[in-house]
Amino acid sequence: MSDDAVGWQWHGRNTQGHKMLDPTLTLYERLGSYDGIAAIVDDLLPRLLGDPQLGVYWKGKCKDSLKKDRQLIVDFLASAFGGPVAYLGRDMKTSHDGLGITESEWNRFIEYVAATLKNLAIAEKETTEFLAAADSLKNDVVQASHVVGV
Ligand code: HEM
Repeated sequence: MSDDAVGWQWHGRNTQGHKMLDPTLTLYERLGSYDGIAAIVDDLLPRLLGDPQLGVYWKGKCKDSLKKDRQLIVDFLASAFGGPVAYLGRDMKTSHDGLGITESEWNRFIEYVAATLKNLAIAEKETTEFLAAADSLKNDVVQASHVVGV
């Protein structure tokens, strides 16, 4: 996919002639608005589902449930990054509480996020902001142990 295809909003060129993104725009806009964020999620989810350690979290879900999860994640990110999107899902603590996601699984997840951002040629600044946003949610997602029914 070409850079312009995801709708990035370019803001002139730097001294090396590289195209730059306008830093005054929201992260949502700099990532290519709704379609850009959907492209990120669509690149990331197959990586997570195909991973032997992480894929188990979605095992047993029908295609339609996966579609719903995908939609909720797109909406969550679009809204969190300043887009004009209403996220109607559950908060991050509620959605992940009880899943028992470990620190090592989290680290693996972050490696996939970084691989996706690299694959889609997301610029360094936006990658840093994206990873910082993810890190701010780590404590809501990761649990030291999985206690059934608690
Ligand atoms: C910053 C990181 C993350 C974000 C922003 C995020 C976002 C979300 C969102 C928006 C939902 C849907 C909430 C709802 O159903 O109302 C969700 C559900 C889910 N997430 Fe995450 N997630 C993150 C990390 C992870 C990780 C690391 C894993 C597993 C390795 C994971 C596994 C799941 C699963 C299995 C569900 C479905 C839960 C259910 O339907 O019962 N998430 N996540």
